[in-house]
Amino acid sequence: MRQGQIAWWQSGVVYQIYPRSFRDSNGDGTGDLVGVREKIEYLSETLGVDAMWLSPFYPSPMADFGYDVADYTGVDPLFGTLADIDALIAAAHERGIAVIIDFVPNHSSDQHPWFRASRSSRADPKRDWYVWRDPKQDGSPPNNWLANFGGSAWQWDDATGQYYLHSFLPEQPDLNWRNPELKAAMFDTLRFWLDRGVDGFRIDVAHAIMKDPDLRDNPPNPDAGHGLHKSLGAYDAQLHIHDKGHPDVHGVYREVRALLDAYSAERPRVAIGEIHIFDWAEWARYYGAALDEMHLPFNFGLLGVHWSAQTVRRVVDGLEAALPAGAWPNYVLGNHDEPRIASRIGRDNAPLAMMLLLTLRGTPTIYYGDELGMRDVPIPPEREQDPWGKRVPGLGLGRDPERTPMQWDTSSHAGFCAPDVEPWLPVSDDAARVNVAVELADPGSMLALTRRLLALRRATPALAHGGYRPIDEAPADCFVYLRESDGQRVLIALNFAADERVLALPSLGHGAVVVSTRPERGGRISLDNFSLQGGEGCVIVLED
Ligand code: NOJ
Repeated sequence: MRQGQIAWWQSGVVYQIYPRSFRDSNGDGTGDLVGVREKIEYLSETLGVDAMWLSPFYPSPMADFGYDVADYTGVDPLFGTLADIDALIAAAHERGIAVIIDFVPNHSSDQHPWFRASRSSRADPKRDWYVWRDPKQDGSPPNNWLANFGGSAWQWDDATGQYYLHSFLPEQPDLNWRNPELKAAMFDTLRFWLDRGVDGFRIDVAHAIMKDPDLRDNPPNPDAGHGLHKSLGAYDAQLHIHDKGHPDVHGVYREVRALLDAYSAERPRVAIGEIHIFDWAEWARYYGAALDEMHLPFNFGLLGVHWSAQTVRRVVDGLEAALPAGAWPNYVLGNHDEPRIASRIGRDNAPLAMMLLLTLRGTPTIYYGDELGMRDVPIPPEREQDPWGKRVPGLGLGRDPERTPMQWDTSSHAGFCAPDVEPWLPVSDDAARVNVAVELADPGSMLALTRRLLALRRATPALAHGGYRPIDEAPADCFVYLRESDGQRVLIALNFAADERVLALPSLGHGAVVVSTRPERGGRISLDNFSLQGGEGCVIVLED
């Protein structure tokens, strides 16, 4: 593909901000939208990313830290005001940064006026906006569906004598997308934000909004393994074939896409789906049969992958093979629901992982703080916040460790909030070393590497949108691939082993190392005999 035909969401890099944890501007220990705006130059100048994805900032009782939305067209006072989001969008656009916001269609808060109305009486006009059912004869829930966050997915409501469905917390009742009025109301909320200038949506548990219309029981999971990259406890005892992912979901996303396309004349608006499906063929359906659904169904293939050259390559090649013609790939190494990459594979391996993320073919999403090598922070039990960890103890499912305050500098609380304020989660005890200010001054830091990679990606068409070709002749511990565009050839050589490996790839000739995980490395090299230190990665521009 030539430049010009490439949209911003293809060549660009997305940076995920968890607003609670990025920067507290008003001294309440919780990050906010003004705080994000204060750091806009970090995003545009220091890093040079192309888009920010903001996790939810809507009014919410915060039972699931904003993924329980009580008003789809507002801003929670904790995060600011509508004027603050307008100002943030304007500031971002001035600097060429797109703003992607979270859209949470599967469930609202139980405090949303829609649900209050729905639960007020069986005759209420909004009753059918949620999923209500009679109990079985013995009084038990209508079927065996389980909530992601533990227990039955059904909550009994005494007042009206029925159960309602909640795929997550009881405070997050599932919306009924089969009801045309609910669907129309949700589309209005999308229009509200598109009219305010947002550039797209990250759609929360996108595949979950359509369930089996007959609400059939899920069958048991025969291999007792888990469908995800991590064990979810009792939830894994079922095959979740009826409680999410019904094929009717695709009709909804075709309509979402048509709406986005209608807004895209001036600049493309994008749909990114959170889709936890690890069967590539099923996952690929979310692009749409005519590439008319998600622009990017999030690819979570690298989240739990065993950290070796062979297994990582298998994920990449599996994705490439599964992509429908013309569909655009994407990669993530972490987000607000997953252990941080530097904890999962070790800080020493994190630079290699960043090089991988920023050189593969497809749109990368960087989770805030991963550019510093931030790690999961152990949370003392009395400070635990996440409802998942509290409801399903013992499995390490709590997500607080990866949501701790961004580490800006060496001042108290790492510059996240004022010194006399207690941040909502503890700051990492490595913050004196691992922070933006210190790392900016150190050419060998993770931040310095990330900046070099981002700048290179931006300046190098082969990296931004070129083709991908793995090199089979590389040593088994090395993942080596070519990115090519319009005659420009860039080789990426990643040594996953702890000690030296030598590449002997004479057919590739000579090249120049333009970025290495070892900052002192550079200059012209021969691929005849090219040695990589343990854990080293290099980006090499090949000679013609
Ligand atoms: C996925 C979100 O990423 C997660 O944080 C949230 O708890 C669930 N969906 C429910 O909305």
